This record gives sequence, C-alpha cells and structure tokens, in this order.
Amino acid sequence: MKNFSVVILAAGAGTRMKSSLPKVMHKLSGKPLINWVIDSVQSLKPDNIVVVLGHKSEIVEENLDKKIKAVYQKEQLGSAHALMQAAKVLKNYKGDVLVMCGDVPLVKTSALSSLLKYNAKNKASATVLAAKVEDPFGYGRIVKSGAALEKIVEEKDASPQEKLINEINSGIYCFDNNIWKALLKVKPDNAKKEYYLTDTIEILKKSGKKTLSLTAENASGLKGINNRFELHEAEMALQELKISELFEKGVTVIDANNTYISYDAQIGRDTVIYPGTFIDAGVKIGRNCVIKGTSYIKNSVLADNVSILYSYVDGADIGKGSKIGPFSHIRPGSVLKDNVKVGNFSETKKAVISKNSKVNHLSYIGDAEIGENVNIGAGTITCNYDGKNKHKTVIGADSFVGSNVNIVAPVNIGKGVLVAAGSTITHDIPSGKLAIARARQEVKQRKGR
Ligand code: UD1
Ligand code: MG
Repeated sequence: MKNFSVVILAAGAGTRMKSSLPKVMHKLSGKPLINWVIDSVQSLKPDNIVVVLGHKSEIVEENLDKKIKAVYQKEQLGSAHALMQAAKVLKNYKGDVLVMCGDVPLVKTSALSSLLKYNAKNKASATVLAAKVEDPFGYGRIVKSGAALEKIVEEKDASPQEKLINEINSGIYCFDNNIWKALLKVKPDNAKKEYYLTDTIEILKKSGKKTLSLTAENASGLKGINNRFELHEAEMALQELKISELFEKGVTVIDANNTYISYDAQIGRDTVIYPGTFIDAGVKIGRNCVIKGTSYIKNSVLADNVSILYSYVDGADIGKGSKIGPFSHIRPGSVLKDNVKVGNFSETKKAVISKNSKVNHLSYIGDAEIGENVNIGAGTITCNYDGKNKHKTVIGADSFVGSNVNIVAPVNIGKGVLVAAGSTITHDIPSGKLAIARARQEVKQRKGR
C-alpha cells in the first residue's frame, strides 16, 4: 500500500451533545469516540496521525497517545480551515492523506484500506468515501458525472434536484498532496459562511485533477455521532455485534437485551452469561464458566469452570474451578488460584489465595498471601492498615483459622496452624501450633438467681 498519513478533524464542540465534555471524548463501550477512530486506522500503519483539536483541546489531548500529533484550530471556521491546521505537519509530506472526522467510531479498517488503495490505484487527487442511504437529509450529496466525482453539495446549499440524491459524503476522504494548494482556494461563500472541505473536490476537478468517489458496501459503520440518541444507537449496534460474535463462538447469553459486554471481552465456549451481567473493559473469561446475577467484572482474567454469582470483580486473576459469591467484592491485585472459594460478603484485595483455600463468609483479606488448603473462618479480618502503612499477612498451607479472628499485620502464620475462634493475633505463629489469643471465659453467679 502507498504510504499515507491520517488527519482526524475533532475541533468542533459537538453542540448537539449538550455536554461540557467535547463530543469526541464521549465514550462508546467504555472507550472515547476519538480513540475508536484512531484504533480503526492504526493497524494500517500510517506514517503520521495528526489530530486537529479546538474546543477544550486539553481534555482530548491528555487522553491521546504520545505518538499522535496534535494541532490546534483556535476558531472553528469550517472543516477546510480545520484541515489547513495540519499543513504545518504534512505540507511537505509526499504520501496520501486520509482525512476522517473524530465522531465516526464504527468505521471499518477494511473500508479505510479500500479507500486508500482505490485512490492510489486510480492515481486520483481525491477519493471520497460515499454511502447510499435511505434518508440523506443533513449530509453532503455526491454529485457525479459518469464515474467522476464533480462536487459535493451541502444540505443547506443543495438545489431541490440535488436534495434527491441519496448518495452521501461520509466525511472520510483520501487526498494526494495537491490538497494543500486546493485548501488555499476555498472561500466561505455558502449558507453557513464556513470554509467547507467538501469544496476542494470542485477546486481540484477544475484544475484538471482526477476526483472520484468510492461507494462503501456497508453504510452502517459510517454514521457520525452528533447527539446522545446516536451515541445510544451506536452502543446498541456494537452490543448486538459483540453478542452475535459470542454466539458464533459458542457462548450462551440468556438475555442479550439485559446484558452488557464490552467490545474487547474474550469469552470461551460453553460459558453461560445470565441477565444483569455487566462485563466491562479488559476481561478474559475461559470455558464453561457461569456468570450469574447482577455481576460486574472489569480488567480481570477468569480461567475455565469459574462461577461468579452476584459479585463485583475488578483487577483479579481467578483460577480454574473457583467459585465467587454470592455478594463478594474481589478487588485489584486479587490472585485466586484453582478451586478457591470466596463466599458471601467477603472482600479480597492484593491477596494471593492458593489452591483449594476458602474464604467463605464475611471476611476481609487484604495484602495477604494464603497457602493451599487453608480455611478462613467466618468474620476473619486481616488488619492490614495501621493508619499510615499497609502491612502483610502470610498464612501457610493447611492452616485453619477459626471464626472472627483479627490478624494484626505484619504477621506470619506457619503451616498447619490452628487459630482459635475469636483470637486477635499480633505475633507470628510457628508451623504446627495452636494459637488462642482471647480472654478465658469466666462463668459467675448471676445476682438474684
Ligand atoms: C460534514 C461534511 C458533509 C458530510 C458530513 C458527514 C463538510 C462541509 N461537510 O458535514 O458533507 O456529509 O460531514 O458526517 O465538511 N470540524 C472542525 N473544525 C471546524 C468545523 C468542523 O474540526 O471548524 C470538524 C468537526 O469536529 C467534525 C468534522 O470536522 O469532526 C465535520 O464537521 P461538521 O460541522 O460536523 O460537518 P457536518 O455538517 O457533519
Ligand atoms: Mg458532523
């Protein structure tokens, strides 16, 4: 493929979003719109990605990768004026320039590569990615003569005849480097008094250059997002796509309308997802798992045969056959090995819990390392924080911690230890010992009885 660079126009305020956040920072499936657009083109390995920023540029910029070059359009005078701001970076660049808007998150990489190839193969100065739609209202219309593209006419400037054209400009273009000269000739002589990028087509054409349009096979990915409803529609379209893809892979989703699964989730076959589940970004789930109840899972890896019931799981690594919940809170840094059980109202944080160990009821296990086959009794708490620092608890394999034990960290409990219920452990316990740390019970006579 011919070398190319990308310019993403994202200086507009996105007034119709009615938001204090710039439009391109609104999230679709947890990822800002502009990042969707950037990701759609990254695998084609452009030489440069230039983003034109304006409205609240600092908010957009701090979310961008360092490799992306930002240029600024102080006043939003139109899309041609926006592209002109990228001239300082690309004026002497010899390859083609792919121009996109920051609000078309679902554009397919394949549509972009087809556009780039088409422009290069036909040695055109400009190719516009077009789409045939049922309702062209609001879009720029594609005016052709034969195969050649004559011009693009905006809705507000179109004649009644032109308004009938149902082939529209997607706002995605491939230009050769004649674009920079053509931009200088654009005048704001139109209904909106803006410098329209679309006018460069007629300008290039009149100076004897070849201008073409390529009609996309699938128009759905080319929809721009301008308001909250369109954002919602895109979210729904993405969910439908993701869940269909999971069906193809052998995953059961009982109620697709009441399940939310992030675009990047990886889920193995024969896993069953029950209604009410929210799988956020960064989740990998193995085979034969069951996710049930209003569970929320984020940034976590679940091996095969794991079950999660009514639980909140974030930043965890959960081994084969482990069972979580109901009502567990598994926090970042929890590493639960195979066949671990964390039950009702138990919380784990930065804790390694080894094979076959159980934290079944009402416990807090934080900053801890727990060996294999350990039983943690109901209500056991690792007292990991002294008000200034966090301290670690280590419990060796095959130990049994009775109910309602406080373990005041830092503390090391050996292997095969028995800790009596109700103990407050403040000192290390060697392997194989029994520790009781509670006042001995006294039974006294009750007055008057
Ligand atoms: C534009 C096209 C229209 C096309 C439609 C597709 C023009 C004149 N028209 O119309 O043919 O059918 O997109 O969605 O381009 N921008 C800036 N600075 C500005 C103005 C705009 O950065 O001064 C950016 C916006 O942030 C946006 C893009 O350019 O990402 C398009 O601008 P917008 O005003 O939304 O144009 P449309 O009316 O949608
Ligand atoms: Mg628009």
